Amino acid sequence: MRVLITGGAGFIGANFVHHTLEHRPDDEVTVLDALTYAANEASLAPVMDRIRFVRGDIADAAAVDALVKQSDVVVHFAAESHNDNSLRDPSPFVHTNLVGTFTILEAVRRHSVRLHHISTDEVYGDLELDDPAKFTPDSQYNPSSPYSSTKAGSDMLVRAWVRSFGIHATLSNCSNNYGPYQHIEKFIPRQITNVLSGIRPKLYGAGANVRDWIHVDDHNSAVWTIIDRGRSGEIYLIGADGERNNRDVLELILELMGKPADWYDHVTDRAGHDLRYAIDASKLRDDLGWTPAFTDLRAGLAQTISWYTDHREWWTGHKDLVEARYAEVGQ
Ligand code: NAD
Ligand code: TYD
Repeated sequence: MRVLITGGAGFIGANFVHHTLEHRPDDEVTVLDALTYAANEASLAPVMDRIRFVRGDIADAAAVDALVKQSDVVVHFAAESHNDNSLRDPSPFVHTNLVGTFTILEAVRRHSVRLHHISTDEVYGDLELDDPAKFTPDSQYNPSSPYSSTKAGSDMLVRAWVRSFGIHATLSNCSNNYGPYQHIEKFIPRQITNVLSGIRPKLYGAGANVRDWIHVDDHNSAVWTIIDRGRSGEIYLIGADGERNNRDVLELILELMGKPADWYDHVTDRAGHDLRYAIDASKLRDDLGWTPAFTDLRAGLAQTISWYTDHREWWTGHKDLVEARYAEVGQ
């Protein structure tokens, strides 16, 4: 199969490239990535001779058309992905998440190419901390931030292109990922690299907000399960029952890294901070037979800590800038 992966130099996309080369060695992989601040070319360096890499913008209709025409499936990861950045400047979120996804949709429509659209559970807004409910494919869209609202808009475009133009597409909404190659602006790698740099970790507000953590390899195995066995037009929620509040996750990181449980600072909370996300993945498990491999957050975090410890060259050059940007807003 000829697989076009957008955003393949970012966190989940790069892991997806590695996963695909390992598990599906006969597939031909092309990556389209604009190499924004969020990309890291080093993530793909070891496999550059096994893939075709194209630097380009997913909103560039001519470039996208030429690549889609030569593909059997497009797996669309490319996005502006960080809530905090979207609060400072929403414009690249509108460009990439909305105009970019529109551009991909028009190309797959023209050439009748299969699409899998990658999205987030944040399109559903948040749940109360004491609510036993979880998100299901029937949950109402109610996004909170410029990030989640532009992702919600991109999902709506995909749904409309399926219904109105009959494109062959599936969509998945996944919970918070962790693992190797994640940009150090995000919660878990920020705290790990803080500890490795001798900086006290930073917790927004009281740290009671809950996220439903999934290892990136489990996200990617679910995506391939949906591409192989999912029904066109269907929406699948991806999650691995990993609900934890931020304070617990941080204390686990501190314990695994040999630091006292209170060695962190409370910092300014995020505006509009979603309280809780939780995924009911029973459709994916029951209909498609998918199961996660990483069911123990402690073991997954230990592996992730080892990866950041062993790959300092991958992140040290970015650390000062990331922390300076957070410091400007008291975080
Ligand atoms: P990331 O920010 O690490 O990577 C995004 C990649 O997209 C980068 O390589 C960047 O260069 C590229 N990109 C950005 N704008 C582009 C453009 N206009 N044209 C081409 N390439 C462009 O993001 P991530 O965390 O790997 O997320 C990937 C996808 O998964 C996103 O669609 C995101 O919404 C979704 N998702 C992420 C999570 C998570 O926890 N990180 C959870 C659920 C869903
Ligand atoms: P993040 O990794 O940005 O993912 P998302 O906003 O998509 O959930 O943040 C995860 C959680 O961690 C979120 O509740 C915000 C919180 N957080 C902190 O407490 N401290 C930090 O330094 C960061 C970056 C996030």
